[in-house]
Amino acid sequence: MGRRTASNAAVKKEKVRPLLAAARIQKRIREMGRQIRKDFPGEPIVLVGVLKGAVPFLADLARQIPGEVTFDFIAVSSYGKDTKSSGQVKLNKDLDSSIEGKTVVVVEDILDTGLTLQYLLRILQQRKPKHLRIAVLLDKVERRIANVHADYVGFVIPNEFVVGFGLDYAERYRNLPQVGILQLPTQG
Ligand code: IMP
Ligand code: MG
Repeated sequence: MGRRTASNAAVKKEKVRPLLAAARIQKRIREMGRQIRKDFPGEPIVLVGVLKGAVPFLADLARQIPGEVTFDFIAVSSYGKDTKSSGQVKLNKDLDSSIEGKTVVVVEDILDTGLTLQYLLRILQQRKPKHLRIAVLLDKVERRIANVHADYVGFVIPNEFVVGFGLDYAERYRNLPQVGILQLPTQG
């Protein structure tokens, strides 16, 4: 039982308003996996996950792509602890293996301003993959700054800060099996 005191009531907690239910996400990922395999029949596919947000999506997507699939991971930082993009992208961890001549699908949690993926695509394209595609679970179309387009989009969502299924607020909420809109407590 939670203690309710006056001081406690003044510190209102953040809330998460449901947006995409877990079952709906799984259904869509199934479709995306089949589509990716249809586009590259019989080819080994390298999924490049963008740490850390893409991990749940990559894990589920990989299991919905029949045939040969391998993983690699890359880490960039752009957001920090804020809900606003700094517009700056830095490479924190590179891939383990060469992607030259490979069929690569970059897997990302969300396409927002597009600055992160624009930077990543520039780096990865230089390494001469056979194909370079992008799969994102969520697409916040309204926020786009960079001219980036995802080949596989799970859901187009409104311009709200969302958490869950890999998406975080200050590293929290990544473990939620659903996606929700974060509502920060109003001050005072
Ligand atoms: P972009 O570079 O603006 O496209 O942002 C990409 C990154 O920002 C994503 O990989 C997320 O880590 C983060 N991001 C953007 N929108 C959200 C959101 O609504 N919730 C949580 N993280 C977000
Ligand atoms: Mg993030």
